[in-house]
Amino acid sequence: MFKKLTIAAAAALTLSFGAGSAMAAEGGHVTDYQFPFEGPFGKYDQAQLQRGLQVYTEICSVCHGLELVPFRTLADPGGPSLSDAAMREYTAQFEIYDPELEDYRPAKPVDHFPAGTYPGAPDLSVIAKARAGFHGPSGLGLNQFFRGIGGPEYIASYLTGFSEETKEEAGTIYYANDVFPGGWSAMPPQFYGDDVVYADGTEATPVQQAKDVSAFLMWTAEPKMMARKQAGFVSVIFLTVLTVLLYLTNKRLWAPYKKKKEI
Ligand code: HEC
Repeated sequence: MFKKLTIAAAAALTLSFGAGSAMAAEGGHVTDYQFPFEGPFGKYDQAQLQRGLQVYTEICSVCHGLELVPFRTLADPGGPSLSDAAMREYTAQFEIYDPELEDYRPAKPVDHFPAGTYPGAPDLSVIAKARAGFHGPSGLGLNQFFRGIGGPEYIASYLTGFSEETKEEAGTIYYANDVFPGGWSAMPPQFYGDDVVYADGTEATPVQQAKDVSAFLMWTAEPKMMARKQAGFVSVIFLTVLTVLLYLTNKRLWAPYKKKKEI
């Protein structure tokens, strides 16, 4: 029985690894970029999240909003972890419409990032989870466990998947992108290299910028990922210890009767 189970588990694992490359169903090929937060012990890289925040602020925020993300969370441990002063300084750059004042005022840490303004540009707060892939056969989620959830890989591939081709349809310009489902995206290409100057001196290649902003968007979609993994890990240890204890208790309880039978 145990042997059969082991074989079945091994087969499921192999299958799910194999299926990973064909993720993001109708879209083109998604590169399986490596991120530090993948795997059961993965963690967000604070420096990468800060670089991603910089890319979002300087480039993406022109069109896309992050309406579900409060400014104060930028100072939370486990995220970009800005210092309190840096978070407040960052927040003060934004203007928020206050219905009570019927006017705009400088943003406060409790406010959320503003909505996007560009027509058709989706809010990016949870896009990294909305575009998850890597599910493995029958959505077992094994690939997500070992290789990450697929959303950041998709975003990074999409951002670097543009070719030079464009077409115009009903007054809208579409840009050829071999990762985007359908092959034509209404979003213009964003990265040509050195589109931002990183504060930490990292070289701003298109792939580097795409990976950094994708990691940041994974954090906006799941800011408590590290706490969740930690809780999962503690539960597994707890359950293991409990299993051993129950097994020993069971043995001890039944020991007198088993002995009788032998005699
Ligand atoms: C000029 C405005 C503009 C800028 C700047 C911009 N985007 Fe977009 N973005 C769009 C539009 C419009 C769409 C919708 C595309 C479509 O549906 O064809 C979009 C779609 C997306 C999508 C969703 C793709 C999908 O699978 O549905 C993601 C992710 C995205 N953008 C990320 C970014 C990131 C990250 C940046 C910054 C590096 C950025 N965008 C900068 C306009 C913009």
